[in-house]
Amino acid sequence: MTKEGLPEYSKSQLALRNGQDKPQIWVAYSGYIYDVSGSRLWKNGMHYEHWAGQDLTEELKDAPHSDSVFSKFQVVGILKS
Ligand code: HEM
Repeated sequence: MTKEGLPEYSKSQLALRNGQDKPQIWVAYSGYIYDVSGSRLWKNGMHYEHWAGQDLTEELKDAPHSDSVFSKFQVVGILKS
């Protein structure tokens, strides 16, 4: 647990939440892990050419939207560096 009370996950733990190996669909952005399982735009873990289960911080720079898209999703953890 971090000081924010959130569990920490490693990159390999995050990788399992890619919408294929486990039912959860998680995406890391700027150190936080978001649960996007409820999004129809992340169905099966795929969002345009991007896969869930990874840190997509750098990739967001090429997206046609800002990080405000994360505002309605719950933070489920912190990505271990
Ligand atoms: C070529 C790259 C991408 C394209 C074309 C794309 C396109 C879109 C579009 C059209 C939407 C819905 C409209 C909107 O909110 O603007 C959306 C929503 C979203 N995108 Fe992307 N996106 C891309 C990359 C990314 C990346 C890299 C991330 C994660 C870091 C991301 C995360 C999200 C999230 C969380 C939503 C909200 C989904 C929802 O509300 O159900 N996108 N994206």
